Amino acid sequence: MIDLPGVLADVGRGMIPARIYNDAEIFALERDRLFSSAWIFLAHESEIPSPGDYVVRRVLADSFIVVRDENGTVRALFNMCLHKGMAVCRAEMGNASHFRCPYHAWTYRNDGRLAGVPFHAEAYGGDDGFAREDQSLLPAPAIDTYNGLIFVSLNADPPALREWLGDFCYYLDFYTRQSPAGVQLRGPQRWRIKANWKIGAENFAGDSYHTPHTHASVVDIGLSREPKANKRKEGALYMAGPGSGTTCKLPPGGSFLEQLRYVGYPDEMIVTMAATWSKDQAGLVEESGFMVSAATLFPNLSFVHNWPVIDAAGTVAPFISVRQWQPVSENETEVLSWFAVDAGASEHFKRQSYRAYLMCFGSSGMFEQDDVENWVSITEMAAGSMARRLLLNSRMGLTSEDKPVKPPMAGFSGPGVAYQGFGEFNQRHWLSQWSEHLGARDEATSL
Ligand code: FES
Ligand SMILES: [Fe+2]
Repeated sequence: MIDLPGVLADVGRGMIPARIYNDAEIFALERDRLFSSAWIFLAHESEIPSPGDYVVRRVLADSFIVVRDENGTVRALFNMCLHKGMAVCRAEMGNASHFRCPYHAWTYRNDGRLAGVPFHAEAYGGDDGFAREDQSLLPAPAIDTYNGLIFVSLNADPPALREWLGDFCYYLDFYTRQSPAGVQLRGPQRWRIKANWKIGAENFAGDSYHTPHTHASVVDIGLSREPKANKRKEGALYMAGPGSGTTCKLPPGGSFLEQLRYVGYPDEMIVTMAATWSKDQAGLVEESGFMVSAATLFPNLSFVHNWPVIDAAGTVAPFISVRQWQPVSENETEVLSWFAVDAGASEHFKRQSYRAYLMCFGSSGMFEQDDVENWVSITEMAAGSMARRLLLNSRMGLTSEDKPVKPPMAGFSGPGVAYQGFGEFNQRHWLSQWSEHLGARDEATSL
């Protein structure tokens, strides 16, 4: 039996029991106490633009058909037949007015209502034996959207999504609202890695410290806009609401226009961004001189914004990726990686940005490949008996008295708390939310 209070106490002081990265008991607690109550991302509205469009996505073992019904309402329907429990929809995405169960062919409308039961009269005695009208696939207990991002909660009474997102919305807009047209997602590419799901989530939350070494070859081959990977130490780390992320320091003294040109955006997009973002949001770029890079929204949704050099002529093209760390087990994760781009951008920009994304991230992206080797290794090492004796040091940025080595940044335009330079503030912030969920009693998160 795991000593959960002991684990959480160690995590609370930044000393992380290595076993949490590969432990069946911890995984069961994550399922029962975390994924049963948090808001979990499923899809983006741009993936299902027309009535009948659907994608099938999971929250751990629970499969949902995320569908736009005939009236345009976005729904998340539990993909389990009311009859004997077969998965009703076996395709990953498509367009359908109805879903027919493969087993005995009960048929459901795309709003979930049961429409057809074969041999209804002969087998059931018609509506007297089994009334179809009030039968429907189970809806997700709670569903809501922000900037087209569709979230569900398995808790029927969660806090309002907007309230839960809190100050992280300020940062979320940089990735998902560069214009009133909003963002559109392409993908996802999906693949499985033999790594614990928490490692990727923590990495994107705030690990700018790994970049100079793990991603040194990205600089070596000239893919990086910056000539030195150790420039990452000038970036700011921020924590806001349930999210946290990293930023890159932009050249000093640049105007909003110059800074976004440096990042590779064409002028017409920069003008639109200036009109779309609030004055405070524009201030992150213009006054504080930072541009958002990687981020994680607790628990398992991450974002990345980067601006590599994509050809021999030195063209800089920015891209955004949305990614999800979908737990399969304590030692396996399905990665879902989408390319995200402003829906109002030119076709030329979308093409270049997609190219930039594929060079860096996605199943063959260079950053992705560099990262994953580390994460698989951590997971393997965490399974052994010696790992049960090891507390990993995740205290970077703290003194022995648990005080920050340097004060939070003054004058950082964004909400929340920000520190410049390396530190593991964000990973501890992520882990403290993880601890809160795991430490909650079962009743508090029961379905
Ligand atoms: S299990 Fe679906 S129709 Fe029987
Ligand atoms: Fe990385």
